[in-house]
Amino acid sequence: MKENDFLISSSILSADFTRLGDQIKQAEQAGTDWIHIDVMDGHFVPNISMGPFIVEACRRVTDLPLDVHLMIEKPERYLGNFINAGADYLTVHIETCPEMDNTLSKIQELGCKAGMTLNPGTSAEEIEPYLELADLVLVMTVQPGFSGQSFMFDILPKIEQIRKKIDQIKPEILLEVDGGINEETIKSAYDHGARVFVAASAIFKHPQGIQAGIDSLVKEL
Ligand code: DX5
Ligand code: ZN
Repeated sequence: MKENDFLISSSILSADFTRLGDQIKQAEQAGTDWIHIDVMDGHFVPNISMGPFIVEACRRVTDLPLDVHLMIEKPERYLGNFINAGADYLTVHIETCPEMDNTLSKIQELGCKAGMTLNPGTSAEEIEPYLELADLVLVMTVQPGFSGQSFMFDILPKIEQIRKKIDQIKPEILLEVDGGINEETIKSAYDHGARVFVAASAIFKHPQGIQAGIDSLVKEL
């Protein structure tokens, strides 16, 4: 962490892909801490987005940590591909990982930080057995699949519940939230214990540009 006790992870899902490198550079100059890359397979979620090729392209334009979120069935088939492409954090869904302990260990053995995430409809208890193994926990605050959706305020108690468990078991785990984070919602997520904030539309679709988008989030914390 730098001087703040939170991190901003800019999700390129809402970036202008005709000039992705330039958009990442702008986010970097505007103070983003991480770049978030949303990988969707059209099976686990009803949308198709990007694969290792885009991670590799991002790796060539920035030294910032690449925070790769795998919304795909059978993610264990592709861990090596994403890590070789340059992922620093690789996050998998509990709904897709029947052997979460093995999947997290494999990610770490390959030299990457391991994240675990859960959909809005999945209870905190589902991930608790594996908390000790994780470097990061991501709580989805929208149904995964698309940027630009509204933050689900009814997930706030689950963020708090997971925060408490993390503090008991392994306080160094990073607690991240993803979906609908904007200047109206970020403080609530912070107050319930989140410390890493993913945002796509609030940053890349801000009417005054990327710098204004990041500033609008940071000023709330
Ligand atoms: C949703 C993705 C998010 C998405 C967030 O499935 O995991 O990372 O890009 O978009 P916003 O910030 O617009 O809700
Ligand atoms: Zn995401």
